[in-house]
Amino acid sequence: MGWPIKLSTLALLALDSLLARTVNQQPLKAPIAVDDWNPWLSRPWDEQPDKDATSNLIFQSLAGLMQMKANSKHPNGHSIVRASIPPGTALYHGRHKVEYPTRDWIAFDPEHSAIFALGSNGTLLTFITTRELTLLYFDGCSGNKVDGVVDTQDLLFWGRLQHKRQGWWGELERIEDGCTWARQYGIDGFVRMEFDFEIMYCDFSDGLELVSVISPVNGQPPVTHPSRPPPRGTPYTRDNLSQVLSRISPAEATFHGFLRTERPGEVLEQPDGLMMALSPLTPPPGWKGTLPFLGFEAKRSGTWHNDFPGELRVRPEPSTLVSFFDPSLTSLVTARRNMTRNEYAAGNISREDLARLRQDVAEMAARPSGAGSGVDWVGLARVIEERFRDRLPYLQHLLRQPVVNSSAQAAAVRKQLMVSLIPYMHREAIGESEWFANIARDCATRFTAGLPVSRFTKQERLLHCAIDEVLHEICRVYTGAWVDAFDVEAKSMEAATSLLAKWADEFNALIEWLDWPVWIQCHPACEVSEYCYVPQGRPWGLPDDHEPRCLSIEDEIF
Ligand SMILES: *[C@@H]1O[C@H](CO)[C@@H](O)[C@H](O)[C@H]1NC(C)=O
Ligand SMILES: *[C@@H]1O[C@H](CO)[C@@H](O)[C@H](O)[C@H]1NC(C)=O
Ligand SMILES: *[C@@H]1O[C@H](CO)[C@@H](O)[C@H](O)[C@H]1NC(C)=O
Ligand SMILES: *[C@@H]1O[C@H](CO)[C@@H](O)[C@H](O)[C@H]1NC(C)=O
Ligand SMILES: *[C@@H]1O[C@H](CO)[C@@H](O)[C@H](O)[C@H]1NC(C)=O
Repeated sequence: MGWPIKLSTLALLALDSLLARTVNQQPLKAPIAVDDWNPWLSRPWDEQPDKDATSNLIFQSLAGLMQMKANSKHPNGHSIVRASIPPGTALYHGRHKVEYPTRDWIAFDPEHSAIFALGSNGTLLTFITTRELTLLYFDGCSGNKVDGVVDTQDLLFWGRLQHKRQGWWGELERIEDGCTWARQYGIDGFVRMEFDFEIMYCDFSDGLELVSVISPVNGQPPVTHPSRPPPRGTPYTRDNLSQVLSRISPAEATFHGFLRTERPGEVLEQPDGLMMALSPLTPPPGWKGTLPFLGFEAKRSGTWHNDFPGELRVRPEPSTLVSFFDPSLTSLVTARRNMTRNEYAAGNISREDLARLRQDVAEMAARPSGAGSGVDWVGLARVIEERFRDRLPYLQHLLRQPVVNSSAQAAAVRKQLMVSLIPYMHREAIGESEWFANIARDCATRFTAGLPVSRFTKQERLLHCAIDEVLHEICRVYTGAWVDAFDVEAKSMEAATSLLAKWADEFNALIEWLDWPVWIQCHPACEVSEYCYVPQGRPWGLPDDHEPRCLSIEDEIF
């Protein structure tokens, strides 16, 4: 019991001597490492990011790795990252036949595999990884097969977009050619995301041990769906979609979900997979009672991986994160200028930029595992998010209140600015322009000033720049407001009123620019009978609808 007291006494003594030294005019001057290649450390503290800046987008990719919500909100992926799965991890594969798989898809949740284990020959296999698997992860909704979401894979495997797709939206060629590419680098397969995460696995005889095989109870015979689908190419609008959905069964809604792809009707030619989920349920011999339709549990199991750290069984290596948001890919910078966020697509890249990017991926794929600085980039992004995730929305909340007593309201905002900036406030030159500049610079660099830049990979340099610019912008907005707020208590009501409006604009813009994954939440939180769902757009929903919502656990609709 004595130890904690002794320790805290020691800590206080240490603090005392530190304070004494500071007061004795011998401040501990921390050197700031200035990297030549990182422009953000030398820019004026009050300079805004360029309109073409992508640091916020790169930060989002990093902070949202392997999370369902973040990647559902912005379906077109922009990152290719090497990742691993530890030995001893259970993985699942469902099929409508009994033969052992060779090159095929793997799910992380048995609920996801079950929708493929249909028919009287339906089989659900469970594997355990026998060694660490090495995979490549494509972020975004990379398993959704429609244009845009598959761009990063197609550009890597084929060097172009595959607009004319053969078997199963091009998936059969994608897995074949992807695995041919992967073989050169000892990569076992690819991690992608649809309504749950999945792997395209190149060789089931390597790295996996079969631990269970069952013919699951939901194995009903495949029966062709009886209802006539609308003619090929029938468009849906917001107006008639809900009408259509209200007329048809949940199973049919899934079916229509497929028809909302760009190649309507294609699914009809597909003999395997989800189509079978539409078949009437026929219980196996000896079964008693009803056999509920469980086809939608896969969508719910996907949402288990909604928030940080997401699908934990996959460990991405951020030191290999090749990003199509890299500002040196100038063809994409130009393409993005007239686009909305969700129109940004890797497919707009020029031939020259793509050649460089494919070289970068080849270089990182060939790199030994564990190369890089060892910095925990995901952890760093998370720590930064946590520091501001509640504070920024609270400031926004204060600034959204109707103005009743502007002086009191400005004072409340002033307090919140101080709460975040006080670790960077020196006692010298208080109130002078140099004081504010030092606050902003310290605020922007405290997290990253001491990083081991000399050991960074090319991809880590990009992450470092992105994090620095994001912090620079946060600290610019905070310090900019602090310049006006410092003496706001002595200012008139009118002055306070106009400052409140100015700050509201600045902080609204900051929050919109950051667009952090941690803010993708169902408000209010879902009930115990519900789950939080972020629609992924095509092919499962309306193209622009990515609003988080609580759905009933009993709902059977995509
Ligand atoms: C089940 O598998 C057997 C052996 O492969 C095959 O002969 C039979 O046609 C299959 N049944 C169905 C319904 O697919
Ligand atoms: C939805 O409405 C559009 C425009 O009114 C129409 O062309 C289309 O056929 C409708 N789709 C369905 C499935 O009814
Ligand atoms: C970007 O790609 C989209 C989709 O392929 C296309 O519609 C658009 O014209 C392209 N824009 C530019 C600037 O290349
Ligand atoms: C973007 O839009 C502006 C104005 O609408 C136009 O002047 C410009 O040429 C467009 N740029 C591209 C790359 O399409
Ligand atoms: C506004 O709030 C301040 C600080 O709380 C208070 O001193 C002042 O009396 C209030 N003014 C009015 C008009 O309510």
